[in-house]
Order: sequence, then C-alpha cells, then structure tokens
Amino acid sequence: MTSTGGLEYGPVQPEEVQPLWALLDQALHISMVPGWNDHVGPDKFRAVRRNGKLAGGMGIVPMGQWFGGASVPTGAVTSVGIAPEFRGAGAASMLMKSALDEIHEEGWPLSTLFPSTLNFYRHAGYERAGVKVVYELSTNAIDVGSRDLGIVEVDDSSREEIYATYNARAKSTSGNLDRPAMLWEPIMGFGGRKVFSYLITGPSGAEGYVIFQQARSAAHIRVRDVALLTQNAALRLLRFFADHRSTIDSLSWNGAPNDLMVHALGEQDAKLTSSRDWVIRIIDVESALTARGYPATYQGELHLRVEDNLLSWNNGDYVLEVASGRGTVRRGGRGDLRTGIRGLAAMYAGHVAPVELRAMGAMDADDATIANVSLMFASPRSWMSDQF
Ligand SMILES: CC(C)(COP(=O)(O)OP(=O)(O)OC[C@H]1O[C@@H](n2cnc3c(N)ncnc32)[C@H](O)[C@@H]1OP(=O)(O)O)[C@@H](O)C(=O)NCCC(=O)NCCS
Repeated sequence: MTSTGGLEYGPVQPEEVQPLWALLDQALHISMVPGWNDHVGPDKFRAVRRNGKLAGGMGIVPMGQWFGGASVPTGAVTSVGIAPEFRGAGAASMLMKSALDEIHEEGWPLSTLFPSTLNFYRHAGYERAGVKVVYELSTNAIDVGSRDLGIVEVDDSSREEIYATYNARAKSTSGNLDRPAMLWEPIMGFGGRKVFSYLITGPSGAEGYVIFQQARSAAHIRVRDVALLTQNAALRLLRFFADHRSTIDSLSWNGAPNDLMVHALGEQDAKLTSSRDWVIRIIDVESALTARGYPATYQGELHLRVEDNLLSWNNGDYVLEVASGRGTVRRGGRGDLRTGIRGLAAMYAGHVAPVELRAMGAMDADDATIANVSLMFASPRSWMSDQF
C-alpha cells in the first residue's frame, strides 16, 4: 500500500468491490460489456482512497502486444474512474503513478489503454500508438467475391484453429493483442443472440475465420471478430456476406487500417464509421526495446537519449544494436536521437514515422539518424480490434 497527502493506493478490499463497481459505472457512464469488471476480477483492481474513503480505482490486466513479430508483455489498463466529488485533487494521478510503479515491479515493459481523455494520460507518459477502426458495408455494395475456398460453420472444438489463425495474423501485423482467455470469452459469446463461427479453409488449412451475431433491431451483421490471412480468404468472406443480401442490409467489423476486405472491393464503398487511437506507455526503455522484434534483414545501431519526467529510471543514454530481428541494449552512447518517452512510444509501435515525430517536435535527430531509425522500426501500421 502506498500513501501520499491523504491519498492511499492499494488492492481493493472485499467490502469495497460492490461500491467500486457502482463508482466505476457512474464514472465511465457506459459499460462496454455488462459484468466487465467482475469478468476482469476484483484481484486485478486497485483502489485509491482519500482520507480513508474510496475515491476511485482501475484494473490492470497482464496481456501481450505484438510488435515486430514478438509478443511484448503489457499491463493493459481498464476501467479508470474517480468519483466526481473527488476529482481535480490529484487522485487519478496518484492512482496512475502507483500503478505504473507496480507494472514496473511486475517486469512488464509496456502499458496499453484506450483513453477517454488523451490529456490526462499524456501527463502520465502515454502516447497515441495505434488505431481501432470500425467499418460498415452494405451487402449490396459487395462487388467482388469468390467461392473458391471452403467456409464451414464450426463449434467450440475448433477453438484452437481459431486461436492459431488469430495469432498468425497478429504476429504478422503490429499492435494486435496477444489475447488472454479473458478477452476471448466475450468474443465467443456471453449468452444473448446466437454467435456464429465460421472457418475459411484453403488447400493447406485455415486461411481465416469470422465470428458474428445477427442484430436484433436491424437487418445487420455485427462481426465480433475476424482474421483473414490471404486475399482469397477476404474474397470468400465477401462472397459469404453478399450471399446474405436478400435479408441482411449491412455488416460492420473492427478492421485494419489497410483492411483486406476493404482493399479487395472494386469501389470505395466501405464506410469508416469510427477511428479511435489507443495509447501505450513505455514502462522500461531497456526491456521494451529488447522485447520487441525488428526487421529480420536490418543490421545497425541507434544511439538514443530518453527523457522521462515521471519514471526516472528511463532517463539517460542508450545504444540499441539490432541484428537478425532482435535488439540488445546497453547504457551510454552519443544520444544521436533525442526523444521524450511519448515520442519513443509512438515510434516503437509504428504509429508515427520518425520523420513525422521530428516535425511534431516529439524527437530531434539529423537526417541520417532519422533515415536509419525509420528502417530499424519499419512495420505495418499499428492497430487492434479489441476494446478493453
Ligand atoms: C479522468 C479522471 C480519471 C481524472 O481524475 P482526477 O482525479 O480528477 O485527475 P487528476 O486530479 O489527477 O488530474 C491530473 C491532470 O489530468 C488532467 N485531467 C484530469 N481530468 C481530465 C479530463 N476529464 N479531461 C482532460 N484532462 C483531464 C488535468 O490536466 C489534470 O491536471 P490539472 O488539474 O493540474 O489541470 C476523472 O475525471 C474521471 O474519472 N472521469 C470519468 C471517467 C474517465 O474518463 N475515465 C478515464 C477512462 S479511460
């Protein structure tokens, strides 16, 4: 338990669980998944108290996040809320700083979250690091498709194939979560409308899957999860959805910024209905740079100087050497690239190019260093389909 200026941080006591859920319901206004906090589990939550009274709390869930073909452990933060009467007095800042210290003690190099306010999380060193986008498409606008691959309805016995297909997609992109069971469970269904699961199969096995529900109030298919490994799988799924067009008007899904289905369409008729950035915080520079992967054929080094106003152990100079897709880090060097911890987060995730970060004033380096680091951190655009 930590305590400063009447504020105290620590695990949630059994008698605080229901009051904290009520407080978070009010603070967050809309709950994403009914029963979400119970699903996460009270043991994952931390409380902040002011003069002994419960003022707010948050959840920290261990997950992984794929960067450069490697799954980097991250403390995923969920359900942050302070009761309105306790706001503006530093309660959330104290909660957040204590949580970052705890994540550091756990040895997780990153923390990831969906911000409802960027300003607050930027104060804590988080930066925009990837997108979550939602597409909507009319079934009548599907102008391409193919029935060459197979598509079969599957049940629980195919979960391992679904997980393996998701992991193959996640590993080859940037920013997707290495999903723990607690994220898979709501996708597979928490009761309610029937959840349909289909596997798309090619000559050498699964090339994709889709998990969806048919909406109650509209002629709409809401995709809960989709992963496509090939263009043929995208064409098969588009054909499958077009085959619903006599009764289903539209479908929506959380997709990639460069989405295989959107890209396959003959016209630009898929609407991007929502795009929100999520953020990451580099908890520990050395372990974060070591844990991610790098382009397999890149070989070189970067002399880096990092400034972090909140987590002081990150301050200083580093040399990152990359070979065979992996990085090794030592302290010291020339500080050729100078960045705050937030600029490093955006570059680390592949969300903002180094040349753009320099123009934004988030990092400083000469042209040769920018060109070098652009190759070192080259990756597909960073995104995830989950919300937590
Ligand atoms: C956002 C929230 C957690 C902040 O709690 P708090 O205890 O008032 O925050 P702090 O007093 O520690 O504020 C620290 C700084 O963050 C910034 N900040 C705080 N609340 C903010 C808000 N709603 N919007 C933008 N910036 C905010 C301010 O710059 C503040 O510094 P200042 O008071 O010197 O200006 C709280 O307003 C809340 O629970 N809101 C509703 C739920 C929510 O949005 N949760 C976040 C989910 S991702």
